[in-house]
Amino acid sequence: MQNSFDLLIRNATIVDGTKAVRYTADIGINGDRIIKICDLSSSTGKTEIDLKGQVAAPGFIDAHTHDDRLMLSNPEMTPKVSQGVTTIIGGNCGVSLAPMPRPIPDPVTPPLNLLDDEGKWFKFATFKAYLDALRAQPSTTNRAMLVGHTTLRVATMDDLEQPANAAQIAAMRELVVEAMQAGAIGVSTGLFYEPAVAAPTEEVIEICRPLKKYNGLYCTHMRDEADGVIDSLEETFRIGRETDVPVVISHHKVIGAKNYGRSDETLAYIQKNMAKQPICLDCYPYTAGSTVLSYSRAETSSRVIVTWSKPFPQYAGQDLDKIAKQMGVSEKEAVAKLLPAGAIYFRMDEGDVQKILQFAPTMIGSDGLPHDASPHPRLWSTFPRVLGHYRRSLKLFSLETAVHKMTGLTATNFGLTDRGVIKEGAFADLTLFDEATIDEVATYDNPIALAKGIHTVIVNGEVVWAQGKATSARPGRVLSRVLPA
Ligand code: ZN
Ligand code: CU
Repeated sequence: MQNSFDLLIRNATIVDGTKAVRYTADIGINGDRIIKICDLSSSTGKTEIDLKGQVAAPGFIDAHTHDDRLMLSNPEMTPKVSQGVTTIIGGNCGVSLAPMPRPIPDPVTPPLNLLDDEGKWFKFATFKAYLDALRAQPSTTNRAMLVGHTTLRVATMDDLEQPANAAQIAAMRELVVEAMQAGAIGVSTGLFYEPAVAAPTEEVIEICRPLKKYNGLYCTHMRDEADGVIDSLEETFRIGRETDVPVVISHHKVIGAKNYGRSDETLAYIQKNMAKQPICLDCYPYTAGSTVLSYSRAETSSRVIVTWSKPFPQYAGQDLDKIAKQMGVSEKEAVAKLLPAGAIYFRMDEGDVQKILQFAPTMIGSDGLPHDASPHPRLWSTFPRVLGHYRRSLKLFSLETAVHKMTGLTATNFGLTDRGVIKEGAFADLTLFDEATIDEVATYDNPIALAKGIHTVIVNGEVVWAQGKATSARPGRVLSRVLPA
């Protein structure tokens, strides 16, 4: 029996990520792996943490992020590790930092400007060059990266308002092959957004053809999450069927007052199709979304908060109607003046959000936008909000289920081997927290704030967050997708 460890966690209430009922034990870690889970009262650790009954869970996996640049510009990743996230899935919504084999347009084509509105980070000609940069300058969290279809379009097409022609499709497909060989886990699309909306379903299918060979998956911000949501689900499923790869429906929601309540219909439709093909989905725990500012989105929202504006940075954090009044113009004119800009849009129903969160296959993803001056609070508080507000206060699910939705389920869906679970032999990615106090602190009015109740966060056996701040450890790795044998 081994009795000395690099890191020994005593008196943990283990919620192991599989939905299994919690149990009490000690955890012995050597190097980057969990070695022993049992009574280790006669063992010692070079570092010891006595949890006194607090929870040890697998590190949270953020199923949906836009952290492509954050990992390089702010490798401590405070918005993520401070809420217990140890792995992020990046490159979502069609938006990835790489590959960009030619100069990015100035101004940066929206929504690529969500990552960097100056364009200087779009400097990686190949996906491999980008992943190499991540490896050369590791961040606190692990990451698994998608290649974005909108990025591929900007990289290969001069007229983005057309469907890609055969030569452009071939060029994009080659970039997908390069990315997959370098270690990408799949392709994402943002068919809802202007430059990608011109892409017919067939364009996406052709670009995604190489995914099967490289065990990739297809993630999508669907073309329509409002009136046409069922058609968009069907489009997503068709892309999955024709390319024979799993699909991930990103941030599933139903938008617009007249669609409130339709999650009953969408979830039933998703469930029915899950019997025929692999389908996954994620969700953020809020009734407001956030992306680039547009009048058509503002018009259909009950409230709009501006999150950033290049010409008018002073208006970040203020409501659009108040900004328009101050400017002495209509809201439509105010939007035109503020661009390029971002916003938070209130246009979902709380009942739908709760049903989608409760749906057994739903994973938790933040969709946080780390470069916004006044970001949506999901950036800092998604995971503690699920565990505090939705689990403890509203009792939508058990702690075991809530943790599963942010760990084991996500690791299985994305093929992240030996992550997302606490078991002997698994990687030591752990989030230690107080079940009674874990909670969101960031709000729409005060969006940048550390969550409550997070004790310690461990990535690959190294403590990255303790006593309310990031340590100097940067153990994050680039993860690839491995299928179960
Ligand atoms: Zn999106
Ligand atoms: Cu997104």
